[in-house]
Amino acid sequence: MSKHVELGVFIPVGNGGWIPSVTSPDIRSTYGYNREVTLLAEQLGLDFALSMAKWRGYGGSTGHWDYTLESMTTMAGLADATSRIQIWATVHTMIFHPAVVAKMAATLDQISGGRFGLNLVAGSNPSDQGQMGLWRDLDHRGRYALAEEWITAARRLWSEDRVDFDGEFYTLRDCMSYPKPRRHPQVVCAGTSDTGFRFTISHCDGCFLSGQSHADLVSRALRAKEIAAELGRTTKTYALLTVIPGETDAEAQARVDDYNAGVDVEALRTQAFEYGQDVRENTMARRMVQNGRDLLAVSEGSVVGAPETIAATIAGLVLDGDLDGITLIVPDFLDDLRTVATRVAPLLAERGVHTLAATATATAAATATAAASTMVAAAGRG
Ligand SMILES: Cc1cc2nc3c(=O)[nH]c(=O)nc-3n(C[C@H](O)[C@H](O)[C@H](O)COP(=O)(O)O)c2cc1C
Repeated sequence: MSKHVELGVFIPVGNGGWIPSVTSPDIRSTYGYNREVTLLAEQLGLDFALSMAKWRGYGGSTGHWDYTLESMTTMAGLADATSRIQIWATVHTMIFHPAVVAKMAATLDQISGGRFGLNLVAGSNPSDQGQMGLWRDLDHRGRYALAEEWITAARRLWSEDRVDFDGEFYTLRDCMSYPKPRRHPQVVCAGTSDTGFRFTISHCDGCFLSGQSHADLVSRALRAKEIAAELGRTTKTYALLTVIPGETDAEAQARVDDYNAGVDVEALRTQAFEYGQDVRENTMARRMVQNGRDLLAVSEGSVVGAPETIAATIAGLVLDGDLDGITLIVPDFLDDLRTVATRVAPLLAERGVHTLAATATATAAATATAAASTMVAAAGRG
């Protein structure tokens, strides 16, 4: 079996990255650091850079995510700083009006030259958006009903001259929105419940997925494609994976043990409390509550090991789950990202999982060899 997958990086716009621990790399979440990460990702041949939207941190000894850059404005800067990589920003449908984001997206389409994509979040938790009075106490279905109106209104504004729209949540009267984007931006959503999948498959281009374990991830990925088939549609699936590399499996595991030893228990408990206020059908919330019980800085389901081990695990997930993309989280977004792109991606190709990163690595190696031969020849002549 052989498959092409997109590789992207979940850039660390929140301090501490995704490992709430006093012993993990001290990620500062500044624009400068995220710019460096995104430029590196572009150079390494990654397909996309995604940033999250988060409004409230979890405190604790690390002050986890107390500092977060805003997603749309960060990605506007990164769209201008880059030239090839896809630039995906996140918005909460409860926070931003669709007409505001429709115009922001059209602007970002120009800044990026057509590389802009949108990650829609229909949920999150009552503390995050509630702190500013913007959490709407809708049940799960209600949230996706709102998201459905939201994306319908945005898509109409991207296509039509004037829009009249009478919804339960939004009203548009002779609403004009220019400029139009050259084409509708790629829209993804991480609604990992069946309701979330139905919304995503009907209205968006791709499903972001995460899982408590590898088996859970594969089953969610296959479930998304099953629902797409039921709806007579297609969708792309992108798995969110935390990857912790080492020279050997033992070295990688030692990193995990070290991060777990320094876990910020208070931050994890706060996160579990905030998501625990609203579990219902929300699969992500259930995971956060579980994380608050496990109290691990590195969540179960992370991919840990030497490059060969990581490649074997990721190839298994891609082929078993028929995945179309991987969104990467790493502890150190410079060194570890380089390891994944230059050492894991070529090994993935040997296992039938092809990425632009592997091609970029092979091209860089061939160019370096050609440059070295030219220098040797020149030295011989001299
Ligand atoms: C790749 C990925 C990116 C996400 N980005 C965000 C984000 O930026 N902000 C946020 O609040 N939640 C984010 N989430 C979480 C989910 O979008 C959110 O909890 C959603 O409500 C879960 O959907 P469900 O309620 O259908 O399970 C992300 C999840 C994944 C897998």
